[in-house]
Amino acid sequence: MGRFAGKDILSTERLSRDEIEEILSEAKWMLGVIERRTSLNLLAGRILATLFFQTSTRTRLSFESAMQRLGGSVLGFASADSSRATGPRAETLEDTIRTVDQYADVIVLRHPDTGAATRAAGVAVAPVLNGGDGTNQHPSQGLLDTYTIWHEKGTLDGLTIGMVGDLRSTRGMHSLVHCLSNFHSRLILVSPEQLRFDDSVKRVLKSKKVEFEEATDVDRVIKELDVMYVTRLNKEGAGEGYEALLTSYPRITLALVNQGKKDLIVMHDLPRTDELGLQIEAEVDDSPYARYFQEMKYGVAVRMAMLALTQGVVG
Ligand code: CP
Repeated sequence: MGRFAGKDILSTERLSRDEIEEILSEAKWMLGVIERRTSLNLLAGRILATLFFQTSTRTRLSFESAMQRLGGSVLGFASADSSRATGPRAETLEDTIRTVDQYADVIVLRHPDTGAATRAAGVAVAPVLNGGDGTNQHPSQGLLDTYTIWHEKGTLDGLTIGMVGDLRSTRGMHSLVHCLSNFHSRLILVSPEQLRFDDSVKRVLKSKKVEFEEATDVDRVIKELDVMYVTRLNKEGAGEGYEALLTSYPRITLALVNQGKKDLIVMHDLPRTDELGLQIEAEVDDSPYARYFQEMKYGVAVRMAMLALTQGVVG
C-alpha cells in the first residue's frame, strides 16, 4: 500500500518534496494515457462523489473526467440548492458527508467556508479531496500549477517565479506557495500591499529558507521572471475595498510580456475575468508565453494521480 492510500488531501501545507514528486511522477504517466486517448481500468467499480457548494467549471469537470478516465464512475451535485444542504429542513455538512460516505469511495468537496474540508474528513471514511474551502486551500489547483511549471520548465529548482495578484485571499495561491516552498526557486510576490500573503505564509518561507521578495509593480520585475503566475482579485476577500483594488490591479498585456525573457511562461488559475474585463488580455493567448489553457489538461492528469494514489491502486 502506498503512503497516500486511504488518506485525505486537504492542504498542500504538510506535503513534503518527496510526496509532491510522487504525485507529479504519477501525473506524468497519467498524461501519457490522456495523450494516447486511452483509458485505464484502475478504478473500475469505484465511485467518486463531487459535492460542490460553490460554482466551478474546471475543478468539478476535471475531477469527473479524471475518474472516468480511470474506469470509475461519478455522482454528485454542482449546486447546494439541489441538495438538502439549503432550504427548509437543511442538514449539517457533517450529515451530508456521512450520507454520501455510504454511496462513494472518494469525495471531492468545494465549500465557501474555510475548514469545511477538514470537517468533512472528520466524519468520512472515504478519502476527502479538498476542491477549495473558503479562502484557505485548493490543493489540486496548487499541485496542477506545480506540475505545469515542472512539465514546461523541466525543473522546479533554480527558477524565478512571479506570483501576481491577490495573494492574501486566493486559495490556489496558498496551495501553490506551499508546494513551491519545498523547492529551490526564487519567488517574487507581486501584489498591492493590502493583498500580500499573510505573515504566517512568509514565516513558512523563511523557515524553509526560500528566497523571496515582495513587489508592487509587475512592470519592474517582468525581465527577471521564468514563470509569471497571475490570479484574479477575490471579491469576498477584498470586502469594501474591492472597487479601489480592482482599478489598481495588475493587467497583463502582450506589450508587457514581450519585455520578458523569450522562454517566459504565463499561467493563470482561471477564470480570468472581473468587472473590468480580463486580467490577461486575449492578445496574449496566441503568444508563445501562454500556458493557462494547457494547465487544464495537466489538471486532469494530476487529479487522476490524486484519485489513484488515495485509492491505493498506484504508489
Ligand atoms: N481554477 C478553478 O478552481 O476553476 P473553477 O472555479 O472553474 O473550478
